[in-house]
Amino acid sequence: MRQAGRSLPEYRALRKKHGILELCRTPDLAVEVTLQPVRRLGVDAAILFNDIVVPLQAMGIGLDIQEGVGPVIAEPVRSVDDVARVEKLVPELDVPDAMEAVRTLVGELDVPLIGFGGAPFTLACYLVQGRPSRDHSLIRSLILSQPGWFDDLLGRLATMMTRYLHAQLDAGAHAIQLFDSWVGVLPAEAYRDKVLPHVARIFDALAEHDVPLIYFGLNTGELLSAMGESGATVIGVDWRIPLDEARKRIGRDLPLQGNLDPAACLAGAEVATAAATDVLERGSGGAHVFNLGHGVLPDTDPDVLSAIVDTVHSWSVDV
Ligand code: CP3
Repeated sequence: MRQAGRSLPEYRALRKKHGILELCRTPDLAVEVTLQPVRRLGVDAAILFNDIVVPLQAMGIGLDIQEGVGPVIAEPVRSVDDVARVEKLVPELDVPDAMEAVRTLVGELDVPLIGFGGAPFTLACYLVQGRPSRDHSLIRSLILSQPGWFDDLLGRLATMMTRYLHAQLDAGAHAIQLFDSWVGVLPAEAYRDKVLPHVARIFDALAEHDVPLIYFGLNTGELLSAMGESGATVIGVDWRIPLDEARKRIGRDLPLQGNLDPAACLAGAEVATAAATDVLERGSGGAHVFNLGHGVLPDTDPDVLSAIVDTVHSWSVDV
């Protein structure tokens, strides 16, 4: 999850020369930035360097990722006519750069590559709100006032995302992570009725690839049991809820991914590795993929990240 973040000096050096979307859309640069944390930290998997808004841009939606703000949409989707702007994506034609980066990375990496995309609701948040929002009140009100076109919008995004993720897997990605970062703003019932069916359609279509399908959101404590019904084969958990409690709430035997608080990585190696050990212990009641509970914060010392990687590796040897 934005694992290179802004914490690695070698990433910052490239960012001085290139915009974030330029890094995403230039295969050689995307490959290099994907490899940087793997080289330096010795993590056990790589995540494709890209951004969840890239396929939206590839469909012709004007947008920019503004420094310190995040994605900003030139003309937000506000009416039933605007929904028609979310069209089909032909990955090999519309995002050939991402597909090329995946193919090159699969050849170069000796750890698995995780491909990814944004989940329909989270992409809709950007399209409708137009920019990052604290409470996403506009889209929350639209679910109630315009249920028809909200459903149409999510359906179109789900179709687009299914094609995009299929294409990444066909290009050689070893697993897929679907980011539903903002889904935690929804009440559980609205999530289950209006959002989950679209997510489930994506995972259902990808099941034929027989690879790990990871589903992550922030603030999902109240949604975990519904998320467990999505067809995802791994549930990503943010740092707010301990993994043993998350496992109870999901209520079925799914592997969990998570969930060290990224802020623990700012508290020095000793505190961070103790917190990592606690995550490992709480995760040990079933299959567990260690990860941070969200992206690496920009001020994180890479040496602290290395110490965490060592802690996780030595734990794996002990059990
Ligand atoms: O190696 C990696 O870092 C993975 C690549 C990756 C990026 N974005 C690159 C990026 C991934 C997996 C994402 C996913 C993404 N993008 C999500 C879902 C995961 C999550 O964090 O919840 C979301 C919501 C976005 C949208 C987005 N892009 C935001 C909110 C921001 C941050 C804006 C800011 O400045 O705080 C971005 C920009 C972005 N995308 C950065 C990176 C490394 C940081 C910007 C930079 O380098 O200037």
